Amino acid sequence: MATESFREEVRSAKDLDAFPPEYRTAIAKIVVSHAVNELKGALTFDEPAIRLAPTPKFKWLVSRNTMEEFGHHILFARLAEELGAPWKDKKPLTLFDFPVADWVDFGVIKATVDIAELIELDDLVEATYLPLRKVAKDTYPEEKFHVGLGREIVTTLLEEDDGNRARINSVLARLFPQALDFFGAPNSKNNELFVRWGLKKRGNSAMRADYVRQVREFAKKHSLEMPGIPEKYAGELASA
Ligand SMILES: [Fe+2]
Ligand SMILES: [Fe+2]
Repeated sequence: MATESFREEVRSAKDLDAFPPEYRTAIAKIVVSHAVNELKGALTFDEPAIRLAPTPKFKWLVSRNTMEEFGHHILFARLAEELGAPWKDKKPLTLFDFPVADWVDFGVIKATVDIAELIELDDLVEATYLPLRKVAKDTYPEEKFHVGLGREIVTTLLEEDDGNRARINSVLARLFPQALDFFGAPNSKNNELFVRWGLKKRGNSAMRADYVRQVREFAKKHSLEMPGIPEKYAGELASA
């Protein structure tokens, strides 16, 4: 097991006793992190945005988005509970404390933060632990819808009033550095563990570089200002 990554498929939590406890711990770390961050995001970003949405159509779309985000929390929390992993005391990422004061904040969050979630899920869709693989596959299209909703909000804001461009740029500039932290430290021991046990495919740095590329495409498409790479990631993301 030293260098080769684990490739067996494990059907349920009951089958985990046949493997070293490290495998269960690795799965638990991933599902607990998703369970707490999905809940925090649903409470701080999505639920309040139903009130902020300016039209019945957007209220309907944000309601669906909110229902799905609470649903993601429930699915990951259920996985955690099956593993006997407590999730209630785990702290969510500071990214999910980002204040949502208005509709512009929410649009930029959905258009860019949910890209980070899509990248994370895409890395889990071949996970050796099949219950996790299933949740990643089931939630992936919903996260795609959330990113699309964010893009629709941003597009509408820009069409209505080009004066919104400065506000959108300013939210993106504040949000982007925090979103980069979503992917964890470059040489994270946890990440090495996830890859070795065939739970994730890529390292944190590769996922962060993918994120930068996708946000850059988004900024270019809407003629928004792409924020600079923070100093701490300058070396790691030099070729991103
Ligand atoms: Fe989600
Ligand atoms: Fe989402």
